[in-house]
Amino acid sequence: MSETLSIRNLTSGYGGAIVLDDVSLGVGTGRISALIGRNGVGKSTLLKTVMGFLPARRGSVTVGGEEVTRVAPNRRAEQGIAYAPQEKALFQDLSVRDNLRLGIRSDAEFDRRFVAAEEAFPFLASRFHQRAGSLSGGEQKMLIVARGIMAEPRLFMLDEVTEGLQPSVIERLGTVLRSLRDRTGVSILLVEQHLPFVMSVADDFAVMKGGQVAASGPMGPEAQGAIEEAMRF
Ligand SMILES: Nc1ncnc2c1ncn2[C@@H]1O[C@H](COP(=O)(O)OP(=O)(O)OP(=O)(O)O)[C@@H](O)[C@H]1O
Ligand SMILES: [Mg+2]
Repeated sequence: MSETLSIRNLTSGYGGAIVLDDVSLGVGTGRISALIGRNGVGKSTLLKTVMGFLPARRGSVTVGGEEVTRVAPNRRAEQGIAYAPQEKALFQDLSVRDNLRLGIRSDAEFDRRFVAAEEAFPFLASRFHQRAGSLSGGEQKMLIVARGIMAEPRLFMLDEVTEGLQPSVIERLGTVLRSLRDRTGVSILLVEQHLPFVMSVADDFAVMKGGQVAASGPMGPEAQGAIEEAMRF
C-alpha cells in the first residue's frame, strides 16, 4: 500500500523536553487513519511537527513522496497538507468568508472551492458576514474543517475536531470525511479521543503511548482490544 504520509524515526519536543521519541507512522493513500492516545502523549505535537510548526530533532517526514522535514509550514501547505488545529485556529475578528478566503487567489476560485464546503456544512453560506469569533464553539469547529476541505489537500490532519460537538454533528462529520476521501482520494490523519467515532470512520489506527506508537493496524472488530489495552496507564 502506498503512503501519502511517512513519518520515520521522528523525535520532537519543547526546549529540553522530548515528547516524540523515535516515532514511525504512515498514512496510506486514500485512507483515514486515527491517531489515538491519552491526554498529553504527544498527538498534537506530532501534527505540529508534521506541519513544521515544531522542528524535528531527528527523523524524517515525507508527504506524497517528497521529504518536507526541513520545509517551512507555508510551503508544506502549498504541497498539499491541510491542518485543523486543536486550538486558536480561526481569525476571530475576521468574517466567516474571510477566514475561508485566506490563501485563495481569486473570488472565482473561492466560489469553485466553496461548493464542497457548503455541501458539508450548509449553514456556512448564510453566515458569510458574521464575525468568526461570534460563532458557537461547534460552528467554529465546522468552519475549521470547512477551511481544510477548501484547501483541497492530499493530506488532511484534524486534531480533536469532535470536541464539544453534539452527536448529530459528529455523525455528519464522519459522513463528510468519508465522502471527501472517496471523492478526492485525500489521506486523512484524525487525532481523536472519541472512540466510537474513530471506530466508525477510520480505516486504520495507531495508538501513542510513552512518546511512541504502541499499537497500529487496520481498524476492525479486533482493533478495539488493542486500542483499549494501549489506552491503559
Ligand atoms: N508549547 C509547549 N511547551 C512546552 N510543553 C508543551 C507545549 N505543548 C505541549 N507540551 C507538552 O508536551 C506533551 C504533549 O502535549 P500534546 O499537546 O502533544 O499532547 P496531546 O496528546 O495532544 O494531548 P491532548 O489529548 O490533551 O490534546 C505534554 O506533556 C505537554 O504538556
Ligand atoms: Mg492535543
